[in-house]
Amino acid sequence: MESAMRSLLSDNSRYVESFRVFLKNSTEHQCMQQFIETKLPEVISSIGNEKSTLDVLGIGSGSGEIDLQMLSKIQAKYPGILINNNIVEPSAEQIFCYKERVAKTPDLDNITFSWHKKTSTEYEHQVNEQKEYRKYDFIHMIQMLYYVKDVPATLKFFRSCLSPNGKLLIILVSVSGRPRFKQQSRLGSYLIRSPKGESGWSTLWKKYGPRLPLNDLCLYITAGDITDMLRSMGAQYKSYDLPSDMDITGCFIEGDRNGELLLDFLTETCDFKKNAPSDLRDQIMKDLQSPECSTTKDGKIIFNNNLSVVVVGNE
Ligand SMILES: C[S@@+](CC[C@H](N)C(=O)[O-])C[C@H]1O[C@@H](n2cnc3c(N)ncnc32)[C@H](O)[C@@H]1O
Repeated sequence: MESAMRSLLSDNSRYVESFRVFLKNSTEHQCMQQFIETKLPEVISSIGNEKSTLDVLGIGSGSGEIDLQMLSKIQAKYPGILINNNIVEPSAEQIFCYKERVAKTPDLDNITFSWHKKTSTEYEHQVNEQKEYRKYDFIHMIQMLYYVKDVPATLKFFRSCLSPNGKLLIILVSVSGRPRFKQQSRLGSYLIRSPKGESGWSTLWKKYGPRLPLNDLCLYITAGDITDMLRSMGAQYKSYDLPSDMDITGCFIEGDRNGELLLDFLTETCDFKKNAPSDLRDQIMKDLQSPECSTTKDGKIIFNNNLSVVVVGNE
C-alpha cells in the first residue's frame, strides 16, 4: 500500500460526510426499503412467537434510518409488543444523529433505545467479561462487516446471541453468489464463482485492494465471503439480491467536492484524489468507467452497487 494514503475510517467526520454523499447518489437505502416492505415481514414472521417483549440488536447502525424502518415493520407484525432496541455503534456523530432521528419520529412509544458507543468487538469483549449472555430475537449488521477484523469469530459470536427463533440479518455488497463451475484440487473439489453479476465494488477491491489502505480498519469482503463462512460453520441461511446503483459522474468532474468524497468512499481512502499516486489514480478512474464496474446512461456514469441480504437462523 502506498504510504501517503490512509484509511477513510481514520477520519470519522470525512467518513460520515462521504457516506452521506454516497447515500444521496445511490439507491442504497431505497433498495433496502423495498426489501423491508416486501421481504422483512417473512423474515421476522416467527421471531416474536409467544413473546411479550422483543430484544433487537443493531450493529453499526449509523444514524438509524434503516433501523427505524425495520422497527416499524416489527411493530406492525407484533402490535403492542415491547421492543428493547440496543445499538452498538462506535461513532459519536452517528449516535447523535440517531438520537435526533428518534426524537423526531412518531409512534415509537413501545420501544426503548440503548446506545453502546463501541465497536462490535468491544461489545463482544464486554459481554464475555461481564458474563451477561443476553439473547436477541433480531440482530442486524448492515453494511458494517467490512470494518470488523475477525469476521468468522464475529459471526460465530453474534449467532450465539440469537434466541431460539431469532434471526441475524446481514447486508453487504454482492458477488453473483452462484458458483458456476467446479475446480479440482488435491484437497477435493470446490466451487469457483463466476465474476459475472458482481458488484462494481468487488471488481474494484479484487484488483486494487492490495494498493489501497486495506488494513485493520477495512476488509474488502462481500456477501459471497459471508455465505462461504456460514457454510463452513454449518449454518443455515437464506440470501436475497438487492439490485442497486450509484451515480458516480461527479467523480470525473474536476473540482467537484461531492465527486471527491464519493471517490474516497469507493476507495476507502482519505482524500484519494490528492493522496493517491498518479498511476493508481488514473487506473482506478479508468476502471470505474469500465463495464466491469459501471454502465453509461443518459450521459451519466452509473456504478453497480448491487447488494445481498443474508438471513441466518438459529439452527
Ligand atoms: C456504511 S455505514 C452503515 C450504517 C447503517 N447500517 C446503514 O446502512 O445506513 C457503517 C457503520 O458501521 C460503523 N462501524 C465502523 N466500524 C465498526 C465496528 N467495528 N463495529 C460496529 N460498527 C462499526 C460506522 O461507524 C458506521 O456507522
